[in-house]
Amino acid sequence: MYPQVKLIEHPLLQHKLTLMRKVETSTTKFRNLLKEVSLLLAYEVTRDLPLKYEPIKTPLAAMNAPVLAPDKKLVLVSVMRAGQGILDGMLELMPSARVGHIGLYRDPKTLIPVEYYFKVPQDVDQRDMLVVDPMLATGNTAVAAVERLKSTNPLSIKFVCLLAAPEGIENFCSVHPDVPVYTAAIDDYLDEHGYIIPGLGDAGDRLFGTK
Ligand code: URA
Repeated sequence: MYPQVKLIEHPLLQHKLTLMRKVETSTTKFRNLLKEVSLLLAYEVTRDLPLKYEPIKTPLAAMNAPVLAPDKKLVLVSVMRAGQGILDGMLELMPSARVGHIGLYRDPKTLIPVEYYFKVPQDVDQRDMLVVDPMLATGNTAVAAVERLKSTNPLSIKFVCLLAAPEGIENFCSVHPDVPVYTAAIDDYLDEHGYIIPGLGDAGDRLFGTK
């Protein structure tokens, strides 16, 4: 296992992931679950955010209380389209984060990613970046997305997914050893179409009900 990979084994996250995997889970339920698991992923991935102390008054006393250091600003980047599900959840917890989008589709024959959309905030070079995509399958999309995003010079990058395949981890970690990967599970293998087995199917289709 690569040391940059952080497997998040929180029981609530594992339970909700199992519900998401089930073939009978409806689009509505899947969408709500993805939002909920995103809160748990966000909790883990922001664990090292720095705090500063400021004087406040409670109704009973004065104290020095921790607040997030104001110079630590975040940008969340959704890898379209399934990244939107994680983005929506994370924004509930971090409403002032800025947002970027990157659109890459996998050529169905070669499985190589092709960019079709790219927009990030102008001050991205003053922000820490969380790149979100539920599935790290072949890793080709994540590798290309992070490569493109590195060219915008964010202060740091973390990659957050829900499910990873061993092949995707190998691919991503060998190309981007400097980028931590957060995932709730590492599954068995990829099938010949690039789907994670056992996985949960096509995350975009399940999130948006397109199949
Ligand atoms: N993308 C998905 O949505 N599911 C997979 O299993 C692999 C890639």
